[in-house]
Amino acid sequence: MTAIQITRAADVLPEEEVAALQPTIDAIDRLKRERNAIVAAHNYMTPDIYHLAADITGDSLALAYLALETEAEVIVLAGVHFMAETAKLIAPEKTVLIPDLEAGCSLADGITGADIRRLREQYPGVPVVSYVNTSADVKAESDITCTSSNAVAVVESLGVNRVIFTPDQFLGSWVASQTDVDVILWEGSCMVHDKFTGQEIRDYKAQSGSLPVIAHPESPPDVLAEADYVGSTHGMISWVTRNQPEKVMMITECSMADNVAEATPNTTYVRPCNLCPHMKRITLDKIRRSLETMTYQVEIPEQVAERARLAVTRMLEVGRQD
Ligand code: 13P
Ligand code: SF4
Repeated sequence: MTAIQITRAADVLPEEEVAALQPTIDAIDRLKRERNAIVAAHNYMTPDIYHLAADITGDSLALAYLALETEAEVIVLAGVHFMAETAKLIAPEKTVLIPDLEAGCSLADGITGADIRRLREQYPGVPVVSYVNTSADVKAESDITCTSSNAVAVVESLGVNRVIFTPDQFLGSWVASQTDVDVILWEGSCMVHDKFTGQEIRDYKAQSGSLPVIAHPESPPDVLAEADYVGSTHGMISWVTRNQPEKVMMITECSMADNVAEATPNTTYVRPCNLCPHMKRITLDKIRRSLETMTYQVEIPEQVAERARLAVTRMLEVGRQD
């Protein structure tokens, strides 16, 4: 374990815990060197993974760009399956590993490629924008993908007055509120963010006094109506770093506040957070095992990958908006 890793973890993990994790971290570091591998971790990973094992951390879009840019031969995706699939679409020549095959996403599981084909029949000629939180099959049937950090820019990049947006209805309705483009919604939602309610946020505000609220756009509209800033996990981190509030209410998955606390020591987080059980399947031990055994390798049938890659590449050309 390097001095930098230890310093990063110092504010969020007790010294004894870091010492106990040392053999696992040392094994991961050694395996990364032997395999020419990197660990790419989503912002929702637990602080031990985020601070001690990750070579890069970020939101879905940052992890996609990383796949495009890294020189490593192996990417261990500490996140959920659709993120690993996206990395494999972008970098088919690399080995992409997901440490637990069951680390899925209930939002992504709520729509299939056949659903997209049916939507196209229902709305002939209307382009389909699919959130990156979808399977490769769904991406293959879509015109373009987006993430929460570029959804409005992606929709507007098409130059049309109507789009079909799948599968997250709340992200879709937030996009609709930010653009003149007419958005046809699919009724999916994220089991982590759809639990928040506007009333809950108002109750927190009543207890904590006036404080800024930042929220992920997968949250319901009555929650977003209470927010001073709406953005991706990356966007929320940037907002806090830029504004350095004394206190902020962050509405998203629970690990986020733990992870950004180290970079924003002057800010206290009020967090009506929910845990993502899918993200939480990834552990340090599973990352070590993944590197030892080179499992589980993500593979996508070429006829699906070819079309899905087009939708993802179009998104990367639009870039980031937050
Ligand atoms: P971000 O792209 O904002 O990190 O979101 C990914 C996700 O799964 C949120 O639930
Ligand atoms: Fe899927 Fe929601 Fe978990 Fe993100 S937080 S991986 S959208 S279930």
